[in-house]
Amino acid sequence: MSLLGKIAIVTGAGSGIGAAISLLFASEGASVALVDLNETSLDYVAQQCVVHGKPPLSIKADVANEVEAKTIISKTIKYFGKLDILVNNAGIFKEALVTDPDLLQIFDSVMNTNLRSVVLLTNLAAPHLKATKGNIVNMCSVSSHWVGVKVASFCVSQAGVEHFTRCAALELAAFGVRVNSVHPALVRTKMLANALKAIDDKDKAWDEAKRSTALERLNEPAEIADVVLFLASHKARGITGSAFVCDSGFLLDGKLDEFR
Ligand SMILES: NC(=O)c1ccc[n+]([C@@H]2O[C@H](COP(=O)([O-])OP(=O)(O)OC[C@H]3O[C@@H](n4cnc5c(N)ncnc54)[C@H](O)[C@@H]3O)[C@@H](O)[C@H]2O)c1
Repeated sequence: MSLLGKIAIVTGAGSGIGAAISLLFASEGASVALVDLNETSLDYVAQQCVVHGKPPLSIKADVANEVEAKTIISKTIKYFGKLDILVNNAGIFKEALVTDPDLLQIFDSVMNTNLRSVVLLTNLAAPHLKATKGNIVNMCSVSSHWVGVKVASFCVSQAGVEHFTRCAALELAAFGVRVNSVHPALVRTKMLANALKAIDDKDKAWDEAKRSTALERLNEPAEIADVVLFLASHKARGITGSAFVCDSGFLLDGKLDEFR
């Protein structure tokens, strides 16, 4: 049990990657504060945590809201007494062309949830993480390097998370606090299903998504959770400011068709 006695906050815990991280952490002995907007899915994940390991604390909150973000930290400290690990995983994906009339509205909402909340929760959690020499894992994306049509808001938010991770890692290293990021590409979750929804031929859409990776496969949420567990554990004690790509070879795709 690599997280025995540890206290963790996982945001976006109600679905997909966040749910997989929460279950894995609980099964590895951590007590987890599950944070999500959706109370029903929080309840479901909380029940699963009890089955797999330690009973969690559920906190219904919007990570982009400053008052609610403060509540996430204060409730966790009040209930568990300390904080060892912060996983900033909550995120949204919205599309808009750079020329669309509603671009700024979409940009602000994506930046607030995907980047500003990471800055905010890091700021609020830092004193508690300094006390435990804890660590932060930020869920990011290959989109921090990659560009595509209609995804400027998402890509810029992810580039911001990656760079903020390094800045925070440098400042917090003096206190023994590590900060790293994890970069998936195509993970089988609700977010990816929604992103592919606009394409009429569903089977073709999933097939093309697979074919855009060198390994011709999508990643499962549990595979991303394994990387997060490693980074959050003592095994990664010498790793900070690092960006871990976990993408079935998506970023290698430039010349894929030449080999198929
Ligand atoms: N699925 C992918 O292919 C993929 C690829 C790259 C990166 N990611 C990143 O992984 C993370 C998790 O994505 P997922 O695929 O599991 O998505 P998901 O949609 O399945 O789950 C996201 C969860 O976050 C919650 N959430 C959203 N906004 C919130 C807010 N403001 N406050 C609190 N909770 C909020 C949602 O309610 C949901 O339960 C995201 O940051 C996403 O950008 C996902």
